[in-house]
Amino acid sequence: MSNTTPNAFGKASTSNGYTTSADADADAASAMDYTLPLSIVLYPSPKLRAPNATITEFDEKLAEFSEHMFKVMYETDGIGLAAPQVGVNVKLMVYNPTGEASEKREEVVFVNPKVVNKSKGQTLFEEGCLSFPDIMGDVKRPKSVTIEAKDLEGKTFRLDLDGLEARIFQHELDHLDGALFHDRMAPEVFASVKEELVELEEMFEKENPGVEYQSIRV
Ligand code: CO
Repeated sequence: MSNTTPNAFGKASTSNGYTTSADADADAASAMDYTLPLSIVLYPSPKLRAPNATITEFDEKLAEFSEHMFKVMYETDGIGLAAPQVGVNVKLMVYNPTGEASEKREEVVFVNPKVVNKSKGQTLFEEGCLSFPDIMGDVKRPKSVTIEAKDLEGKTFRLDLDGLEARIFQHELDHLDGALFHDRMAPEVFASVKEELVELEEMFEKENPGVEYQSIRV
């Protein structure tokens, strides 16, 4: 059973739920149009490559949406989640490095986040992604980052992140730029997951006939 949120702005969308090119530049308010319960959008949905709108309204709807994001993140055993992964193309992401719903204090909501400084040193770490079930691969990223974002009240905050926090932040921030973790894998790592990516593409094509997407099979 699904509910329509009160902020449905009536933008035209195709019958399969994908927005038409005419509203590709839709603002954040109209992008924040979702149905409950949220579900995870799987690779290679074009939602994962679509532009994400900057958030300008820091209202109750935004806070509610972030709560729904945490809910689906915990339900799917995630430690981080970006809005496009639930089909909402806005610059919002959440994380809780403990992955435990009971650890409320570890939850962070990042609105319009960016990296303002990063370490020269990089580390290799095996990442997974809720949009790629059961696929894992090593990705190299800066070890630590200084980030800036807005909170749910629109107040800007800065954090120095290291270790797992820095890792999750950078992975989720990539989602807000339409980048996915396999884009960053070294050729031999990419080769090791390629077959599974193709399987996801084939599944998507079966379930969404005629929907165009960015394929790794070029
Ligand atoms: Co991800």
